Amino acid sequence: MQGFKNLLNKERNLLAPASKNSKLIKLTETALDKYTVSKKQSFVPKVIWGEERYQLLQSAIFRDLNVNEQLKVYEYLSKQNLSLSWYIERSGHNYGAKMILLSETQEEKSLYALFAAEEAIHQREFENFMDFTPNPEVNWHPLLDPLSKAISEADKQTCLFVIQVLLEGFGMSFYEGLKQTCKIPEMKEVYQRIIADEARHHGSGIVLSEEMKPSNEVKDQVFEYSREFINALKAADWIKNAVHETRPLSTKEGKSLYEDIAYLDRMNSRLDKLKMMLMKVDNWDLVKRLEKDQIFEYSL
Ligand SMILES: [Fe+2]
Ligand SMILES: [Fe+2]
Repeated sequence: MQGFKNLLNKERNLLAPASKNSKLIKLTETALDKYTVSKKQSFVPKVIWGEERYQLLQSAIFRDLNVNEQLKVYEYLSKQNLSLSWYIERSGHNYGAKMILLSETQEEKSLYALFAAEEAIHQREFENFMDFTPNPEVNWHPLLDPLSKAISEADKQTCLFVIQVLLEGFGMSFYEGLKQTCKIPEMKEVYQRIIADEARHHGSGIVLSEEMKPSNEVKDQVFEYSREFINALKAADWIKNAVHETRPLSTKEGKSLYEDIAYLDRMNSRLDKLKMMLMKVDNWDLVKRLEKDQIFEYSL
């Protein structure tokens, strides 16, 4: 089991290196090109998500920046969105691999083999719009830590709840928001296609979890990972960091930036969505336990 865990750790999964073998690269590219709805873009604008998504012009601090500085903020956020999308798809490879190996029936193996293939296609769709390789020191989201920990260490049933129901569910609504507000029509098409696949992954997680009778250990694991995952979402602070990169903000300024853009309402509606998602599979008071720990509460 220890060896299995090591095969699925962050270094071998999210941080897996790119190959230097040109023949292998070519073979993979040719295979993936058959399945993607997009082609490698020769030019990608630096700002893919801007005012439509973030409504930062509501903030006095943001309006104070010059146009170039404002563009830099949106460039930073666009890069973060693409990087998170890309890392989510990468992690799907090893999630599929783990579930294939832990499957008890042939049907289950086939289902997860298909999911894993779809994640490889999704990753490639995003790469078609990326002229950079994400740097984990900068282009990171804190939720990637509990995500990779769950893939490497959690029990199979815990993975089904945490990765397939909670995370894929989060992925769907994150991608839906990105689709609606992105500036590149070809990319909207990509998100649309991926959302349809993720809806199947998430939906089958719900169906399969209905039949499960989780042990107390699994219930505790699901609680711990859900808590870590939601806390990571609350801690991300991408918008504040994006502005801070361009113009350093004091704690007070950071707070007033968030007040101006009604960040509290945005976060609360995200937390509500997650709660609803967990309620779909909660038949052992998971949500009640999370509520008792005030996990769905957020303050500036
Ligand atoms: Fe995916
Ligand atoms: Fe997926």
